[in-house]
Amino acid sequence: MGPQGELMMLSTNGKVILLGEHAVVYGRPALAMSFSPGLTLVSQEEGEGALRVIVPAWQLEQSEADFTPVGEALRLARKLLPFCGGLTLSIDAHIPIGAGLGSSASLGLLVVRALARQGGHRLSRAQEREYTHEIEKVFHRDPSGLDDTVITFGGLCLFCRSGWNERPSAWESLEAITPQALRVPCALPTFVIADSRVPHSTQAMVAGLRHRYQLDPPWVEARIEAISRCVERAVAALDLADHAVLASAMQENHRLLVDLELSHPILEQMISVAMASGALAAKLTGGGGGGCIIALVSGDGAPIVGALNDAGYRAWLVNPQQAIY
Ligand code: PMV
Repeated sequence: MGPQGELMMLSTNGKVILLGEHAVVYGRPALAMSFSPGLTLVSQEEGEGALRVIVPAWQLEQSEADFTPVGEALRLARKLLPFCGGLTLSIDAHIPIGAGLGSSASLGLLVVRALARQGGHRLSRAQEREYTHEIEKVFHRDPSGLDDTVITFGGLCLFCRSGWNERPSAWESLEAITPQALRVPCALPTFVIADSRVPHSTQAMVAGLRHRYQLDPPWVEARIEAISRCVERAVAALDLADHAVLASAMQENHRLLVDLELSHPILEQMISVAMASGALAAKLTGGGGGGCIIALVSGDGAPIVGALNDAGYRAWLVNPQQAIY
């Protein structure tokens, strides 16, 4: 057993996309932020056996001997960060699994950090991200890198899959944290995240939009371009702490996602509940077709969390302190 004090400090973020999902697949920027808590390592048992993770909140208990994506991820993690013997990692999850909040990247990073400590490897943030990205490939085949970047570096990031060689002049001053990500150093408002518990497949939603694109490229392209203008407006609004403009950019982004048939009736219901209880804006976040919504809140957001929880969803607040890592 490692030293308890140190163990308590090992945790990883969740992530939420504020604007730009799907458009990011087509080379446009997305704006995403980390929030905590995501996952926390509660105990670490050394032993003879395999590398194993136990996440009771996800009803997940798997080892590197399992022929599952998690098993494969653990085998890869041991290869990337060699150590002797077995290790059981018991993890508290504060984010749902498979709901678009970065559960796999958060788990990958926690395993990377635990193994680095176990094997005495000192990793920079860039190396942590690189290893986590490799593990993400096991889960998502061709991940954009948004989740692993935002979760590893934390805070509010503008992410562009093809990189920032031709950065718009308005964003020249933003610090590049990876070739694909710029840090947006803004004071954040408070958000509410709510999980519909409707299972969704990001891959299927991305494939559906790709099919639509093939049928009518100009129609989809116009909406993708309009989403990217929402992202630009949102970044400018955050810089000025203009929450009314941020709200209108989020609303417009959601309308475009609905147009692209990426929402779900339950998400629309949740958005109505959030707006009726005082949210400034509410939109789907992530792949859509289920998963989560994000609402922009003025004040403490408690009535919105209450209304969504009363309606049977799982809602919680992410305030600025939780968002900056
Ligand atoms: O559901 P999530 O959080 O994994 O978000 C998917 C975001 C997409 O833009 C739809 C896909 C992607 O690879 O960026």
